[in-house]
Amino acid sequence: TQSHSEISRVKNLDKLQIGKHEVEAWYFSPYPIEYAHLPMLYICEFCLLYYPTLTQLARHRAKCTLLHPPGNEIYRHENISFFEIDGRRQRSWCRNLCLLCKCFLDHKTLYYDVDPFLFYCMTLKDDYGHHLIGFFSKEKECPEGYNVACILTLPQHQRKGYGKLLIQFSYELSKVEGKLGSPEKPLSDLGLLSYRAYWQEEIVKLLVNSDEEISLDEIANKTSITHGDIMHTCQALQMIKYYKGQHIIHLTDAVLEQHTKTMSKQKQSIDPSALRWKPPV
Ligand code: ACO
Ligand code: ZN
Repeated sequence: TQSHSEISRVKNLDKLQIGKHEVEAWYFSPYPIEYAHLPMLYICEFCLLYYPTLTQLARHRAKCTLLHPPGNEIYRHENISFFEIDGRRQRSWCRNLCLLCKCFLDHKTLYYDVDPFLFYCMTLKDDYGHHLIGFFSKEKECPEGYNVACILTLPQHQRKGYGKLLIQFSYELSKVEGKLGSPEKPLSDLGLLSYRAYWQEEIVKLLVNSDEEISLDEIANKTSITHGDIMHTCQALQMIKYYKGQHIIHLTDAVLEQHTKTMSKQKQSIDPSALRWKPPV
């Protein structure tokens, strides 16, 4: 479609500096035209304003007082926090977040109309402040039942388990809401890989820890993962058997072996008891 060719426009930015990190942009992002094709775009890691030169960023940094995303801290466990930010109340911050996000996502169109979304930003705290690691956005009202619209781990922090924390957090919110949820489609390749890994781990953990047979409904209710996502995951792992006229989910040796490996390299996870949150009304 036209909008697709529109958003897949040729990459305009080369490199970005975010805090102490330098990263390469992957895709086109609609930063103002005068910022395109600069050798480097300098981004304030706290307020997400962007500058064409280091001098201009430094001038801004001398005045900038923000030390965390501009919202309520709804979770803190060890050095990880989550901040909830309302797109309508923090319109320009959220637009800047979407501009940054678009550099690493090819198929999403969200940049300007941030009002219908909440943004859940994950930070890592040090003596200086709460540094942004990644985030997901979520529609305030979503008839399709999506619990994530867009999800991103900043490239300098990828492949360290943070994406899994973001995904887990999105399902913890769904559990509090008493709803099942699923990420907005289409997923990117990296999104699909990460979600599949998460779904598999959650489902297998339940199967391993229950002595009795466990139904699709029970898995869905305990994890907030939708029936469709559970079925697809189990099918891909060949865990569905047709037995006496019924579909049965059962563990295979291969899946068990993989699970043991995953558990042995267990990284950190979200502690649901550290969540201070009620669904927004
Ligand atoms: N290659 C292979 N497997 C991968 C890769 C990769 N590059 N990245 C993630 N995975 C899988 C692995 O199984 C990994 O577990 P492992 O490291 O123990 O093997 C698992 O996903 C989780 O990895 P994390 O380190 O927790 O994930 P990360 O912090 O890298 O974040 C994310 C994943 C958010 C998808 C990141 O790659 C990203 O921001 N990509 C760019 C934006 C994007 O594509 N977002 C998803 C779009 S879909 C949507 O928004 C609904
Ligand atoms: Zn700033």
